[in-house]
Amino acid sequence: MKDFIAGLPKCELHLHIEGTLEPELKFELAARNGLELPYATVEEMRAAYTFDSLSSFLTIYYEGMRVLRTEPDFYDLAMAYLRRAAEQNVRYAEIFFDPQAHTSRGVPFDVVIRGLRRALLDAHAQLGVRAQLIMCFLRDFQAEYAMATLLESLPYKEWIVGVGLDSDEKGNPPAKFAAVYERARQEGYLLTMHCDVDQDDAIEHIRQAVEEIGVDRIDHGVNILEDQRLVEVVLARGTGLTCCPVSNGYVTDSMKAEGIRKLMDLGVRVTVNSDDPAYFAAYVQENIEALHDALQLSREELARLQRNAFEITWLPRHVKDAYL
Ligand code: HPA
Ligand code: ZN
Repeated sequence: MKDFIAGLPKCELHLHIEGTLEPELKFELAARNGLELPYATVEEMRAAYTFDSLSSFLTIYYEGMRVLRTEPDFYDLAMAYLRRAAEQNVRYAEIFFDPQAHTSRGVPFDVVIRGLRRALLDAHAQLGVRAQLIMCFLRDFQAEYAMATLLESLPYKEWIVGVGLDSDEKGNPPAKFAAVYERARQEGYLLTMHCDVDQDDAIEHIRQAVEEIGVDRIDHGVNILEDQRLVEVVLARGTGLTCCPVSNGYVTDSMKAEGIRKLMDLGVRVTVNSDDPAYFAAYVQENIEALHDALQLSREELARLQRNAFEITWLPRHVKDAYL
């Protein structure tokens, strides 16, 4: 089945580009930018990747991205991911980036987006892998800062397909960003947001995302199973869920494989993704393999997960159809 999974044309929709920063590249960028790292070796750095919650992961994630300073740094980061993706037969990716994680440390917005954009163009031309960018707001910062970031993005609107919401969910519900999301919709952006697994008030957050914000997609969202009514709403709308089994295993007590299975059986458009592969040691293929090991999925089910993913992409219908 490993070969079958390897051969499947894949689509990745929940991938934080800053979460693809491998230790080797971190050392290279630190040297390039004259920065010291608190680890002597790649092995020492990897050994420090011990998370047991979303917040313990986020501390190391933000600390790690300090080495990203210049346009070529962002280019190299995205190119490295897209090369790995192409090797795993990923044909299309929608890639999150966290501009505020960079602008808040003095790196200009345009440096970030120009580097990422150039990599996307080169990867399409050189590797045949297509990708689009989703701009995420950091939910533990104020809504006003998210709004300012949204306005700052407008000159680059053609390079960004939609907006998302990530970072620490505790005490930062979707409703905090209602005005930002309303403006984003008016500007033509598509809408998604994280409803991380097993968070406090998980169901209320999913309800707000679906009913108050009206998201086009939900990132994670497995807890929706706790509310039959909300399951029916996403079924009726065809709303997709971007699940990340290996990531779940790091930040909660399990991969939530049974929940993913249940969602599949109910007909919800669930997909399998890697989230932050450099930190969770699993790219999309390893995520699919891990889920298969837990659930013994059939070939039809494995193929269906990829069909779900292509179906819920934010590509124009005719482009989407060419993948299906
Ligand atoms: N959840 C919230 N914030 C994040 C994540 C995640 O899975 N990955 C990177 N930032
Ligand atoms: Zn995520």
